[in-house]
Amino acid sequence: MSTQRLLGMRKIIVAIDGHSACGKSTTAKEVAKILGYLYVDSGAMYRAVTVYFLEHHIAITNPREVARALSDIKVSCKINPQGMTETYLNGLNAESKIRKMEVAEQVSQISAIKEVRTAMVEEQRRLGKKKGIVMDGRDIGTVVFPEAELKLFLTADLLVRAFRRQKELLERDELVDLDDVIDNLKYRDQHDTTRKVSPLVKAKDAIIIDTTHITIDEQVDEVIRLATGKMVPFT
Ligand code: DC
Repeated sequence: MSTQRLLGMRKIIVAIDGHSACGKSTTAKEVAKILGYLYVDSGAMYRAVTVYFLEHHIAITNPREVARALSDIKVSCKINPQGMTETYLNGLNAESKIRKMEVAEQVSQISAIKEVRTAMVEEQRRLGKKKGIVMDGRDIGTVVFPEAELKLFLTADLLVRAFRRQKELLERDELVDLDDVIDNLKYRDQHDTTRKVSPLVKAKDAIIIDTTHITIDEQVDEVIRLATGKMVPFT
């Protein structure tokens, strides 16, 4: 769809959920760019909270300490000059810190805390108030935006996901053994799908996309096709 035609359409919300490392963020980022929408990586927000908890040695079993920490944390998203969304923790760019393996190892535990989720979901809904947003995560179509016009559930084979994540870490100068990446993905899948608060489940009306055998370009084309199919013109 041309930019001109897109401008004549009402903005929608695109909610992308799925397992760790199956291409949600890469797809969501590109789709948002093409549609001229805001892109929000909700996992990055939970990772930023995790960085804070780690740096401040917050005892996650102490509700008071968690509450105090949350009142001291401000997670925000800013668009950089290249048009990419970056995550900030208390005003500082947290992009390189949040992608570290150490953070990946702790984030599932921290993101399972009810109070953490309440604070993040509130911010995520604020960002999506005017629609025109592509957000990826684990509970976007089920909890954050149950009214989203387009809901997707991405999945892929574990080994393929592990290779992709290992390559991503390597690009950030972190060499991690493939077995360790596999263990981390398995652990997070298990934790994310079985936690009490907002577990990762496919929304009833979400469309499944298996990314095992398709390229990023094919994923993006498919999501754009589905998204434009949900758009209605201003009357
Ligand atoms: O998308 P990611 O791998 O960067 O997410 C990191 C972790 O954050 C993931 O293991 C689960 C949690 N998460 C969540 O609980 N809810 C979301 N909406 C997004 C991420």
